[in-house]
Amino acid sequence: MHLTKSDIESKSKVDRLNLINAVSGVKPANLIGTICENKYQNLAIFSSIVHLGSHPAILGFILRPNQAVRRHTYENILETGYYTINHVHTSIAAQAHFTSAKFEKETSEFEKCGLTPEFIADFGAPFVKESRLKMGMKYLESVPISINNTIMVVGEIEHLILPEHAMDENGYIDLNAIDSVGISGLNTYYKLEKMETFPYARTGNLPNFER
Ligand SMILES: Cc1cc2nc3c(=O)[nH]c(=O)nc-3n(C[C@H](O)[C@H](O)[C@H](O)COP(=O)(O)O)c2cc1C
Repeated sequence: MHLTKSDIESKSKVDRLNLINAVSGVKPANLIGTICENKYQNLAIFSSIVHLGSHPAILGFILRPNQAVRRHTYENILETGYYTINHVHTSIAAQAHFTSAKFEKETSEFEKCGLTPEFIADFGAPFVKESRLKMGMKYLESVPISINNTIMVVGEIEHLILPEHAMDENGYIDLNAIDSVGISGLNTYYKLEKMETFPYARTGNLPNFER
């Protein structure tokens, strides 16, 4: 199959959305936890979390604002300056997925989707108790992407919480050990299986791949 730009553009909105949402490959599955000034808690699934740098330790995510629908996660982040990012694992994938439903601001997705809010170390946003790798994030900036009116929200990791057995002495995290899942498109979840860890690639340690 070979699709050109015009083939893609001539698809129905839903077919195009399903297709193009999946072409980047497996994306990380994370829940973003926030709270507003009036103390209503919010939880929503996001697949666009991306590493931006290690020093400082910063992550970004893409927010797709919609004129018609309020985005509670973003409103809360702007109000409090804090949020949490929580990995989704196989036993909470269904609960995590349904946090994407459009609930009222006063309704807690934690409650509706059977997940437990957890406050730690006086941090100003709720973590997901059931999650096995979680980060407390401080909001830094919003970077507009004008071509499609999306925003990259950038934040710094202030807390990183994971089980001892999931990290080795070099800092490598074993996603298998904590059962983290990946997402394709907007509704398909994949189990991850660790395949191999290769050494840092240098021209000096190149295996002989030449034919
Ligand atoms: C698998 C999946 C991944 C999603 N990833 C994103 C994302 O990266 N960015 C985004 O803006 N919305 C994403 N959404 C949609 C949000 O989860 C959804 O709009 C949610 O209602 C936002 O909640 P809020 O209004 O409480 O912030 C995703 C939905 C699903 C099902």
